[in-house]
Amino acid sequence: MSQAYYRKWRPQTWDQVVGQEHIVTTLRNAVTADRVAHAYLFAGPRGTGKTSSARLLAKAVNCQAEDATERPCNQCEHCKAVNEGRFLDLIEIDAASNTSVDDVRDLRDRINFSPNQGRFKVYIIDEVHMLSTAAFNALLKTLEEPPGHAIFVLATTEIHKIPATVLSRCQRHEFRGIPINDIVAHLKEVSLIEDLIIDTEALSLIARQATGSLRDAISLLDQLAATSQEISLEMTQAVLGTATGEAVLQIVDALQAKNSATGLDHIHRTLDGGSDPRQFSRQIVNYLRNLLLVRMGNADQVDVTSEMRAQMAEHAQAYQVPELLTVIRNFNHAATEGRNAWQPALPLEMAFVESLDLSVSSVEAVPAPKAPITPKVEKESPARVAEAPKPDPALKADSVESQPVTDSLPQSVAKNWEQILRIVRDDNPQTQALLNSCRPLGVKGSALVLGFNGEFAKSKMESEGNVDVFLKAMEKVIGETMPVLCIVAQGGELPPDIDQDGMVATALRDLGGKIVDVQ
Ligand SMILES: Nc1ncnc2c1ncn2[C@@H]1O[C@H](COP(=O)(O)OP(=O)(O)O)[C@@H](O)[C@H]1O
Ligand SMILES: [Mg+2]
Ligand SMILES: [Zn+2]
Repeated sequence: MSQAYYRKWRPQTWDQVVGQEHIVTTLRNAVTADRVAHAYLFAGPRGTGKTSSARLLAKAVNCQAEDATERPCNQCEHCKAVNEGRFLDLIEIDAASNTSVDDVRDLRDRINFSPNQGRFKVYIIDEVHMLSTAAFNALLKTLEEPPGHAIFVLATTEIHKIPATVLSRCQRHEFRGIPINDIVAHLKEVSLIEDLIIDTEALSLIARQATGSLRDAISLLDQLAATSQEISLEMTQAVLGTATGEAVLQIVDALQAKNSATGLDHIHRTLDGGSDPRQFSRQIVNYLRNLLLVRMGNADQVDVTSEMRAQMAEHAQAYQVPELLTVIRNFNHAATEGRNAWQPALPLEMAFVESLDLSVSSVEAVPAPKAPITPKVEKESPARVAEAPKPDPALKADSVESQPVTDSLPQSVAKNWEQILRIVRDDNPQTQALLNSCRPLGVKGSALVLGFNGEFAKSKMESEGNVDVFLKAMEKVIGETMPVLCIVAQGGELPPDIDQDGMVATALRDLGGKIVDVQ
């Protein structure tokens, strides 16, 4: 019976781990020096070696080889047991499964028992970000005082979802997407041993398609090998065409679901794997053009499978024609722009974000729950505190334009701003990052005015429930809320404490382009 390549090709020694040298070196040294930590967090994209490395660590700390530098030896009883999946002191928990709460609770009771076979009991908790709050709390208790014989390896593709309380107790390692060259080299080795005849061009096509995931690359090769031992470039192109299509569909899905995080993530994964941003943009444009044809009643001119046709009909229906035209324009721009840009992905990211916020632009003010509706503002000019107040409290949409902020910031907000932000952070770090990039300017009518440096951050604040998160924190800290009005207030300086690596800093710096310097 043949075994799926990716399982068959799971690294069994440290040397077989591709593209994560920094991590392998650290773990190896820890084993050799007998200074292994009690809790690790392995973060990074899927298929980059997190589970493999966790198992290697489990094997190494329990390996019976005399010479510590040889561990794992894959010869001793313990190594063999791990390799065959029958080592009792390696416990793997899949946090994505619905038994994980019980598993983690159980773990608290069982953790104090000594290992059955080896020196250490190793707990691998995969997709740890999926744990429920209850399970996280149970885990936290365990991590607070792990017995000397226990080692935890938590693995996640979404580190931003891990509570700070858990992060602070783990030694963190960030796995990176595997570079194309490393993938190609690895695939060459696999093909040689699997007796495949495949040329380098086809291999690099696979590598690009895999977007940094060695697992995906190996699976694609596996898929091709199932058809023939001799793999042509043509055949590879034919198989992979469908895979790129998949990425395009995911982008359109994310656009229609207004899910910026998922969409940008798909874009980055595709690009990290080496896809050319302009080429990828063109594929998106092609698909959108087909949607337009379908929308205009010319579906017969679209040459695709019936399955794809159904998918297209669905996507096409979700768009209004003018909206669709704008989205096409946005991506077409990205498809022709920025060949030598210093940030090659930027035009594509901008196209995505601009296409995402199409329907947001008409709703500029987000009312607080249980509060009077705030005015709709088309575009706000730079707002300044302490300008002469105007009498009209009604704030009609068209008159707001010229209205200054009437009152200065309430003491309660000004004094507690930092505290509010801290509470926000616990709830949603993205909201906090956004708030870090704005200034509370004052009050207009009954609304608290937040000044953002760019349209991107402003409209992001207005969407995805960010205002709600803010209001919840405000309520908690000062016991009251008020409607929030987000405006673009240019020319103001960015607060010095903005998270330099955060989404917002990037967005403001790169996408908004309105801030000259953030140091
Ligand atoms: N860094 C790597 N080096 C070698 N093989 C890898 C690497 N990353 C992934 N693989 C391949 O992909 C499969 C799945 O990898 P895994 O460690 O489960 O990834 P992750 O846990 O990061 O999703 C492995 O069995 C192996 O075939
Ligand atoms: Mg894994
Ligand atoms: Zn061994």
